Amino acid sequence: VSLSNRTVRVAVLPGDGIGQEIVPQAVKALNAARGSLSIELGEGEIGWTAVESTGAALPQATLDLIDRSDAILFGAIGGPEYEAWKRKNPRGSPLLQLRQDMKLYANYRPITLFPELENASTLKPEVIRGLDLLIIRELNGDIYFGEPRGLVNDAPGARESINTMRYTEPQIRQIAHAAFKAARRRRKMVCSVDKANVLETMGLWRDIMTEVGADYPDVTLQHLFVDAAAMELLRRPTQFDVIVTGNMFGDILSDEAAMLTGSLGMLPSASIGANLKGLYEPIHGSAPDIAGKDIANPLAAILSAAMLLRYSFDLEEEARRIENGVRKVLADGYRTGDIMEPGTKRLGTSAMGDAVAEAISAGV
Ligand code: IPM
Ligand code: MG
Repeated sequence: VSLSNRTVRVAVLPGDGIGQEIVPQAVKALNAARGSLSIELGEGEIGWTAVESTGAALPQATLDLIDRSDAILFGAIGGPEYEAWKRKNPRGSPLLQLRQDMKLYANYRPITLFPELENASTLKPEVIRGLDLLIIRELNGDIYFGEPRGLVNDAPGARESINTMRYTEPQIRQIAHAAFKAARRRRKMVCSVDKANVLETMGLWRDIMTEVGADYPDVTLQHLFVDAAAMELLRRPTQFDVIVTGNMFGDILSDEAAMLTGSLGMLPSASIGANLKGLYEPIHGSAPDIAGKDIANPLAAILSAAMLLRYSFDLEEEARRIENGVRKVLADGYRTGDIMEPGTKRLGTSAMGDAVAEAISAGV
């Protein structure tokens, strides 16, 4: 049986803000790219949208939908109403809960520059030309989940709160293997980013990266402290192939790296766990300031759908159809407002989704 004749089940969770506008564009792309593949899409609520209709940010119905699905296509959560509600209902972020419950320990954030967007970046074209790096962010550990955490003293005038940076050897080992394996399919270089000069946790990180690296003699391993890595990303970003780092540093460096490509609105991501039931999301957030105006860039969400086909289902050809569709639309000069330049044609969110879907269909 050909891979493309099966049925795959995808939970679609648009969430809040522009998530509601961009995820439908990704669904259009999936439908245009699927060929003979059958994709069963089930839509679920998460975030403020879910609070409004069920009282919970991650309702049971959504958890059940995820259980029945092979992959999740996620938009974004958050916004002023949600933040206000969360202060009264501090139960943690549903996104962080999903990452933890589904053991999505590896977050892949590919930072590639579409040649058509060379001039949309704030960096000079000659600095970013050919940019193609992959940030692999550990997603289950670090200060995001470390205990103890929270308020340790609530006396007025002396309030104190703590968070704990923690990593275990197995956690570091599994993300190290993910990084070296990814590098083998690329240019065979791993740069591990830590803060081993100050933090014991990061000293352990560096030791284990080095140990695991010995199993991959064909891959070159380099270590950088996070401050130097932040600088090198701006100075000469094309030196990097795979960057592997912890949860906190990965969060920060991936936003920095995203901007090298011109817009946060271009970058997809994949979060993968042991069981391959991945979660795919644009790296940007819910952008309440531009929500509901049909101006958000849907390309990160559309490219996340391509990652979903590739990483969860090994559907390389279908994934490429989506990526080629995006290339074609950019080459034809269509842009959303965030990546506009003189001489290009501006499209809204939905029209951009239609243009990509048409380009995909024309290419099938
Ligand atoms: C990201 C986001 C999240 C994170 C937030 C929304 C919890 O910034 O995916 O990078 O900090 O991990
Ligand atoms: Mg972030």
